[in-house]
Amino acid sequence: MDILPQIAALRARLKSETAVVFVPTMGNLHAGHLALMRQARAHGNCVVASIFVNRLQFAPHEDFNTYPRTFEADCDKLRSVGVDALFAPDEKELYPEPQAFTVEPPALGNLLEGEFRPGFFRGVATVVLKLFNIVQPQTAVFGKKDYQQLMIVRHMVRQLALPITIIAGDTARAEDGLALSSRNGYLSPAERDEATRLYRTLGELGREIRSGCTDFAALEADAMKKLVNNQWKPDYVAVRKQADLQLPSANDHSLVVLAAAWLGKTRLIDNLEVAK
Ligand code: PAF
Repeated sequence: MDILPQIAALRARLKSETAVVFVPTMGNLHAGHLALMRQARAHGNCVVASIFVNRLQFAPHEDFNTYPRTFEADCDKLRSVGVDALFAPDEKELYPEPQAFTVEPPALGNLLEGEFRPGFFRGVATVVLKLFNIVQPQTAVFGKKDYQQLMIVRHMVRQLALPITIIAGDTARAEDGLALSSRNGYLSPAERDEATRLYRTLGELGREIRSGCTDFAALEADAMKKLVNNQWKPDYVAVRKQADLQLPSANDHSLVVLAAAWLGKTRLIDNLEVAK
């Protein structure tokens, strides 16, 4: 695997490649990322990963400084799944001057995650567009764990006519159901046991919907209460339409339940698609 911290070196390496598949990450890689890398392989013959902890998508009070950085172990993992090239710039390389031009997402970026993390999707969209311009992939893979992020990236690609096909990767889960996330490493052993409640709660809510309940507000409130009763601080539990993350009506069939909640000092997100 070629490790390329410089834009110029990456461009030179990819110059004659015709089918580049790109998987952007912030590092601290787990089995979920590696599944995306393997999935990428099916869509091209040159798999490029990136590792860059993007300051632009963290609010000042968030965990930018403490976000786990495990570069050597990440490189070993990427090699083990046959990634061809890793773009690993430092901040000076990607942001040699303050990033004054930014990508402002549409209203979709202000819902759900955007409501609780103002500016988050501006930071994500800006770095993703910049990485796309640097790597110039034909295809890029994003995990469904960050459901709204995937949707915003797709929307950006469509509206800005980027010649890139976006592929969605399923959420990888631990055996007990917890969605794999770099932030799971913040959990104490007791919190790690409790953390499975988030996915279980989404599952229960999904079953209620499939069995015909259309009082989504009541289901959301009930799920929030279950979390609160077990020492969680939920930001939201929301039943939305898969197509646009807007509020569903009783006869919408392709739904997704999304949740974000704090367990101690750790903020976890998860989601579950529900087809009625
Ligand atoms: O999902 C992530 O890890 C990040 O938001 C991304 C897409 C790499 C942009 O920094």
